[in-house]
Amino acid sequence: MPSKTEETFVNHLLAQMSLEEKLGQLNQVNPGSEFDPSVLREGKAGSLINASGALTGQGFSDSGSAELSNHFQKLALEARLKIPLLFGRDVIHGFRTVFPIPLAQAAAFDPDLAGQAASIAAREATASGIKWTFAPMLDIARDPRWGRVAEGNGEDPFLASQMARAVVKGFQGDDLSAPEKLIACAKHYVGYGAAEGGRDYENGEISEPTLRDVYLPPFHAAVKAGAGTLMSAFIDLNGIPATANRRLLTDVLRGEWGFDGFVVSDWESVKELIHHGVAEDEAHAACLALQAGLDMDMVSGVYLNTLGESLRQGKISMEEIDEAVRRILRIKHRAGLFDQPFTDPLRARRDLLTPEARNLARQFARQSMVLLKNDRDLLPLQGFRRILVAGPFVHARGELFGTWTPDGRTEDVTPLDEALRQTAPKDVELWFAEATDLALHLAHHADAVVLLLGEHPVRSGENCNVSDLGLPPGQAEFVQAMAALGKPLVLVVFAGRPLAITQQVSLADAVLYAWHPGIEGGAALGEILFGVEAPSGRLPITFPRATGQVPIYYNQKNSGRPVHPEGQFKTRYLDLPPSPLFPFGFGLTYTRFEYSNLRLSSDTLRGTLEISAEITNIGARPGAEVVQLYIRDLVGSLTRPIRELKGFQRVTLQPGESRCVSFTLREEDLAFTRADGTFGVEPGKFHVWVAPDSVSGLRGEFRL
Ligand code: NOJ
Repeated sequence: MPSKTEETFVNHLLAQMSLEEKLGQLNQVNPGSEFDPSVLREGKAGSLINASGALTGQGFSDSGSAELSNHFQKLALEARLKIPLLFGRDVIHGFRTVFPIPLAQAAAFDPDLAGQAASIAAREATASGIKWTFAPMLDIARDPRWGRVAEGNGEDPFLASQMARAVVKGFQGDDLSAPEKLIACAKHYVGYGAAEGGRDYENGEISEPTLRDVYLPPFHAAVKAGAGTLMSAFIDLNGIPATANRRLLTDVLRGEWGFDGFVVSDWESVKELIHHGVAEDEAHAACLALQAGLDMDMVSGVYLNTLGESLRQGKISMEEIDEAVRRILRIKHRAGLFDQPFTDPLRARRDLLTPEARNLARQFARQSMVLLKNDRDLLPLQGFRRILVAGPFVHARGELFGTWTPDGRTEDVTPLDEALRQTAPKDVELWFAEATDLALHLAHHADAVVLLLGEHPVRSGENCNVSDLGLPPGQAEFVQAMAALGKPLVLVVFAGRPLAITQQVSLADAVLYAWHPGIEGGAALGEILFGVEAPSGRLPITFPRATGQVPIYYNQKNSGRPVHPEGQFKTRYLDLPPSPLFPFGFGLTYTRFEYSNLRLSSDTLRGTLEISAEITNIGARPGAEVVQLYIRDLVGSLTRPIRELKGFQRVTLQPGESRCVSFTLREEDLAFTRADGTFGVEPGKFHVWVAPDSVSGLRGEFRL
């Protein structure tokens, strides 16, 4: 809710504005090569996107700097009404301190940590003159062919909502006007991850109940956490481009959720309404978007250029323009820009890449890596004197960053080989080989082999879709040749998506999924390989056995002929088992945990229900377990998922130690979009699991 002072301020300013000045506020400009700074002096821009050169997050661009922003801000404040500019930039998983990619962050199952990382990113970005980030990305993704799966939290709405809340709070804090706080932008609203075939920008169809119960909840969580802005998605969803969808941008977002911030389009997506075929020309596109509830036009210029004429022709009203301006001014005011339009240039030296930030990046990288296989406890590596480390990532530096790191610097990263050397025990000899033939030659003389494989960041992120989820060309053959030598074999996979590595998993003794782990990825990996730390990440997305299994996700519906390995008339593939390679929630560590004593406080949920289980570390090492709570609503007016995540807790236990882990399930946690379109619960029988992943665990039952 806007405060009274905020609204008085905004309305007072609005009352003094000319039509041109109002349209200027709705216009975000890109200071690229054709940029004419006089637009700032003339009040023709409300925001500046400092992203020149990093259009899709591949590669590096000039970093934002306080000096540069201050320079532009000075020009903007020369305009008649002195309305400050809002500087936006893609600060996606860290700024100078690059944290693991968002998908990896989700794998840590630790929203608090994600919140702390966001807060560091906010401090670094604001020190560099940026006050607005285009993050968090909250798109649910069930198709890893889509390159942008790297940028989100995976497939689960509960986990994504927890992350949304933590990250928005981390960026924004409680007071957006504090100099080190950054305005969040929940994107891409909505359904962007459902692009057909995993092809970015492609259309998507999502049924209303699935939209409501799967795709919208993370956005609702971000709005409840106070996100100042949202970005509309490029997608044509169910026939209406998200940028022109009045029902979603206005009825749901403002009407149902009470959002009082503003919505920015994605890059030129207002103008793209013409390509979509819902707008005849630029003027028509601008009217459709404005009337849908889209407030700021990212760089296409069509609001600035056409809305004035459309107003004169009576196609839109001044009230509609005013409302969009009001929302933008409100957020500028809330962010303290009118009082503090400039950034102290001395901050950068103090606030960028602090030891505290690096430590957090290392902890996050460690927690996000997922151990997928560890036969005969090969990891941590012990008792091997000569270890060969081979593969394309051996000397990786900036390659560890992942997609969207325009402000990360390669020289800040300790090369992977160097980091491993620093973490290996003194009596271990490490040999490194990037080239395949050298590696195969050296392997004969090594006691164990670690292969560092996977995808380069340029193969992940915006519009980096693949039709084949296998390892990049040549790597599968490399694994096969290495496995044929019969040495103990560890695979470390760097990637921005789940890869279908079925064959490689069967060939290797141990597999660690490292994602793109960020600036401290090398040290984190070394600590895990050599047992200084234990891995504790869990999969935030299902891993398919083969590309053809996609989409495959844990919270599917049961169907009338549910999965059965032998069933001729049950759902199946002839050439693949029905199960995924690894399920959602899965991950091993260096010890084992036993689940026992499932207890429910009652056999009926009235208001709330307590569910607990005892978790025991039955191995010989300390370790962290992510204990997960799932439910299944057995009968509904609409078919219900076979499991739904409703809670998780990380617990660290010493060998032999037991802990009672308990969850509270509330009646509203069981609500869903029912057959009549309303949201609520339905009485009946439920299953509940306290589980280490989405396919196992202790099962109980209760009624509502
Ligand atoms: C396009 C991308 O879809 C979006 O995520 C990003 O924030 C904008 N470009 C701005 O760079």
